[in-house]
Amino acid sequence: MTVAELSTQEILDLTREHTLYDWSVQGAVKAIAIDRAKGVYLWDSDGKRYLDFNSQLMSVNIGHGDERVIEAVRRQMERVCYVVPNTFTTDVRAEAGRRLAEVTPASLTKTFFTTGGADAVENAIRMARIFTGRHKIAARYRSYHGATAGAMTLTGEPRRWASEPGIPGVIRIPDFYPYKAGKAYDDPEYTASVLAATEEIIQMEGPHTVAAVIAESVVGTNGILIPTEGYIRGLRDICTKYGILYIADEVMAGFGRTGKWFAVDHWGVQPDIMTVAKGLTSSYVPLGATIVSQPIADFFDDKFLSAGLTYNSHAVGCAAAIACINIYKEDGLIDNAARMGEVLKAELLKLKEKHPCVGDVRAIGLFTILELVKNKATREPLVPFNPKPAELGPINKLKAFLLQNGLFTLLRWNTVFANPPLCVTEEQIHEGIAILDAGLELVDAELQ
Ligand SMILES: Cc1ncc(COP(=O)(O)O)c(C=O)c1O
Repeated sequence: MTVAELSTQEILDLTREHTLYDWSVQGAVKAIAIDRAKGVYLWDSDGKRYLDFNSQLMSVNIGHGDERVIEAVRRQMERVCYVVPNTFTTDVRAEAGRRLAEVTPASLTKTFFTTGGADAVENAIRMARIFTGRHKIAARYRSYHGATAGAMTLTGEPRRWASEPGIPGVIRIPDFYPYKAGKAYDDPEYTASVLAATEEIIQMEGPHTVAAVIAESVVGTNGILIPTEGYIRGLRDICTKYGILYIADEVMAGFGRTGKWFAVDHWGVQPDIMTVAKGLTSSYVPLGATIVSQPIADFFDDKFLSAGLTYNSHAVGCAAAIACINIYKEDGLIDNAARMGEVLKAELLKLKEKHPCVGDVRAIGLFTILELVKNKATREPLVPFNPKPAELGPINKLKAFLLQNGLFTLLRWNTVFANPPLCVTEEQIHEGIAILDAGLELVDAELQ
């Protein structure tokens, strides 16, 4: 029997019987069997169409089914799929490294290719520790850095708990979340207070013991928390002052998502190390990267880089990355993300005006979120932090409504994400917003 002969029910049953879903109670998952995808749309095995308003996991940045990537991958597979990464090299590895050096911030020159975001973070930590001879890594609570041991320990949110105690040497610095603190986004006193608390923690830990600070340039899954220029530059400055490396985690925010190549480009921040994945290949095949500055690269010229992966610099991944970088440029996708981001933001702000349940809109390029509240004045979240399934009533209702009406997006706790592929058009944004608008009526009704 070929895969194509399975009925929708057989696909769902066999998936349940023989595979495990991530981050889920298995019996609670209601998956949809997807048959194909093109541009910003997905079709399920019964032919129903969904608008992909989240680029899956904020990762299919160029959009689905682009023949240019498929062709690049096919060509590479015909030539050579894989070679031992420290005995052989390939033209696609060389070219992907050069392209990354061109598009990333000027401080970053050399790439260690991984298979995804978490192992990019693992290798960033490892290199930072070897390079500085220090062992502590500072991270924030509202963060997600991946599900391998080190990346999971750096992750501050509840997904970390099941993996504790985790790796030693991880310390916490404060989040930048003015809405939660009851402040205006650009309140300079708030920025100053967060930076002062951060510096004090570094001092108390002993700056000579801190190898690196890792920060998502714009916090992704934990709420699209957008730094002010003052905060992100201030964080970089604290690192510089104490000889601490600044690791920008751009796994989600990178590759045009925010309307620039990388989110740090908005504020002219030069990281010492940057981690990327997702948009690097737009999820066509798995690939991640740890990209380092020249001093770190030079250090390993005569020191042992004690790090490796069977699939380091996988030729098929590198071919897909080159194709994607070409597409970002050829199709002007990053400018489109900036332009469409303005359209989307304006629409989201209208939803905030209209709906009592929408407390805040945070948007930078096509990296956007609605924060839902019980009460706009108090900013009390619609559902509590880390809610139990029974507390998710209104969110589950909204999620079901959106899917029924052909809109896929990510809903997490009291937040609704809107992160379409960077090729999205104004018309498609309006299509998604209209469904969201109708769905939010259901949530408003629950407030009464
Ligand atoms: C900011 C950030 N870092 C790291 C990761 C981990 O990437 P992966 O799931 O590819 O291991 C993610 C995944 O969502 C992420 O958003």
